[in-house]
Amino acid sequence: MNKILKFPDGFKWGSATSAHQIEGDSHNDWSEWEKSPERISQLKKEGKNPEDFISGKACDSYNRYEEDFDIAKKLNQNIHRFSIEWSRIEPEEGRFDSVAMQHYIAVVKALRDRGIEPMVTLWHFTNPVWFAEKGGFLNKKSPEIFTRYIKYVVDNLKARVGLWITFNEPANVYTSLSYLKGIWPPQHKNIFEFIKVKRNMIKTHTLAYREIKNIYKNSVFTEYHEEKPTMSHNIKPLVGIAENNFHVVECPLFKVLGIGRTVDYIWNLYFWRKTIPYQDFLGLNYYTVKRLPGSYGLLPKQEIYEEMNWEIYPKGIYYCLMKLKKFNKPVIITENGIADSTDRQREKFITEHLYWIWRAIQDGVDVRGYLYWSLLDNFEWAHGFKPRFGLVEVDYKTFERKIRPSALEYAKICKTNQLEIDYQNN
Ligand code: FCB
Repeated sequence: MNKILKFPDGFKWGSATSAHQIEGDSHNDWSEWEKSPERISQLKKEGKNPEDFISGKACDSYNRYEEDFDIAKKLNQNIHRFSIEWSRIEPEEGRFDSVAMQHYIAVVKALRDRGIEPMVTLWHFTNPVWFAEKGGFLNKKSPEIFTRYIKYVVDNLKARVGLWITFNEPANVYTSLSYLKGIWPPQHKNIFEFIKVKRNMIKTHTLAYREIKNIYKNSVFTEYHEEKPTMSHNIKPLVGIAENNFHVVECPLFKVLGIGRTVDYIWNLYFWRKTIPYQDFLGLNYYTVKRLPGSYGLLPKQEIYEEMNWEIYPKGIYYCLMKLKKFNKPVIITENGIADSTDRQREKFITEHLYWIWRAIQDGVDVRGYLYWSLLDNFEWAHGFKPRFGLVEVDYKTFERKIRPSALEYAKICKTNQLEIDYQNN
């Protein structure tokens, strides 16, 4: 029998994107790396077509954001997470581009006009080329350099934005892929750099957090009456990071030795632990499990989604949320999604994850919103254009957008603030 599960009043429903993955025509450390001879020959060696791995025009959302937000509105979404491309705002060190800033002011306004709350990510994996050349977050001065950039952005958007994310997945995905495993630019494999970048990002977040709070403290807002009142218009900004968490699965022996706990701490909790006084909310990105050797006895292999080869384990989000409870902060699911061009698995994926989020709320976790990754199909970093995460299909030749059937099912949940489900797989 179907059950109706209600979400708390005021729960936010939406989707997320990031600049480099959708805007098109980026000029940053990623766009340069995608076109570098080393990257191209590496792809050719793997038998891949380098064209599929160059972000290029992406979804052309820099020009089509209004169309995108019309779709989000049609899908009953009331929050939208997007990111600002630092390399557009500060194309050369210390030179701020007011035209680029005007663009993002218009983006925020376009969301507000549609009754959608903007959630702004200030950094989502990409760096201006000049900053990368200075060593990026290896540079001792990176906290000050980054804070100067975000000050300019926050000053310009403060009247219309109350939800800020300084970094997307700083401690784990970025540092490990860029500085430990050598997969993402700058492709370093150096544990000392890995640690140093983490430390500098912790310092940077702390400084940026304080700066954002300061800006609001000293500001007088005059524009509120123009717009519909929404969550962020209480002037008090909420600042956090979005962090990727795996559900760690281990074998009984590892459990006795505390290995799973250590992995969990290093991957999932470290950055939050180090910055917790400077987090107003925790942004959780959850996709899949992390298996330690011998773990199949405890949890059999789950269904996967082939475009990423990731196991689907909805209950994992419940475990991750329950571990965040001790921090005593509100949580927003800032990403959760599936790459599924056939759209056969997506509806089930969403509803089962929502079921376990709902269970975590019943068990005392203060979850305030859910943002599906992603509104659109987009450029999936080193995987290129093949994985299709979108609620909306994008034709990369014509840029035509087509709403997938699962998006309409998600839209019903967004509208009613409740989930109808027949799912009892505890
Ligand atoms: C997350 C990233 C996001 C997207 C999804 C699939 O780790 O934050 O940009 O690539 O994975």
